[in-house]
Amino acid sequence: MRRKVIAGNWKMNMLPNEAIEYIESFSKLVENTKNEVILCVPYTDLFYALMNAQGTNIKIGAQNMHFEEKGAYTGEVSAKMLKSIGVEYVIIGHSERRQYFAETDETVNKKIKAAFANDLKPIVCVGETLEQREAGIAEKVITEQTRFALDGLEKEQVKKVIVAYEPIWAIGTGKTATSEDANNSIKSIRNEIKKIYGDDVADNVIIQYGGSVKSSNAKELFTTSDIDGGLVGGASLVPEEFAKIVNYDEQQ
Ligand code: PGA
Repeated sequence: MRRKVIAGNWKMNMLPNEAIEYIESFSKLVENTKNEVILCVPYTDLFYALMNAQGTNIKIGAQNMHFEEKGAYTGEVSAKMLKSIGVEYVIIGHSERRQYFAETDETVNKKIKAAFANDLKPIVCVGETLEQREAGIAEKVITEQTRFALDGLEKEQVKKVIVAYEPIWAIGTGKTATSEDANNSIKSIRNEIKKIYGDDVADNVIIQYGGSVKSSNAKELFTTSDIDGGLVGGASLVPEEFAKIVNYDEQQ
């Protein structure tokens, strides 16, 4: 049985004092869950979040990183830097980064390799646009993105990757993929991984759904055959709401 991994993506929200208050109340609300809980916070919150999550079951992640280890890359942060302060996870290739910051399948692949070289666990985002879905090429797009992203990795590394399937039309729009659609897309990603890396890797890799996940739809999504949890944006900004998502398995 794969574990469920539920990650919050705060995006460009929350000042350090807000992050500290959030973790104080959120940690009490999720202390009994058996699901894995991750908060991916802005760089400026990382240190505070790490300090305040100590002794809790909350893991801390960043939302991006550069693939080079150091050098003349003004404004960038490397995997080694993240690791040096105790960060465990990093989101790579979020659609907002692909759309607004020119991330490509190639940079995504380089970043994943750099993350592993520094013992960080990548949460890799893939997902189709509305036009691609309407043109009937969604499956092709997401399986190709997955293949490119994981290219050249060892089997043992692929097992540790978290893939987040996030249809772009569902992000921040209030539109959620139906649990059946999301589960089918995730099955095709798992199948692609199976073709390349074999049954054992495909059966172990965590594949989340993301895109307007909230407490009212989390249970339906996360209890399907292949959805192993979620990457949650807007609804992760309120501790009570995000805790309900993490504790989806306690809902009646
Ligand atoms: P959303 O964002 O939950 O606000 O739709 C998800 C994401 O972008 O990771």
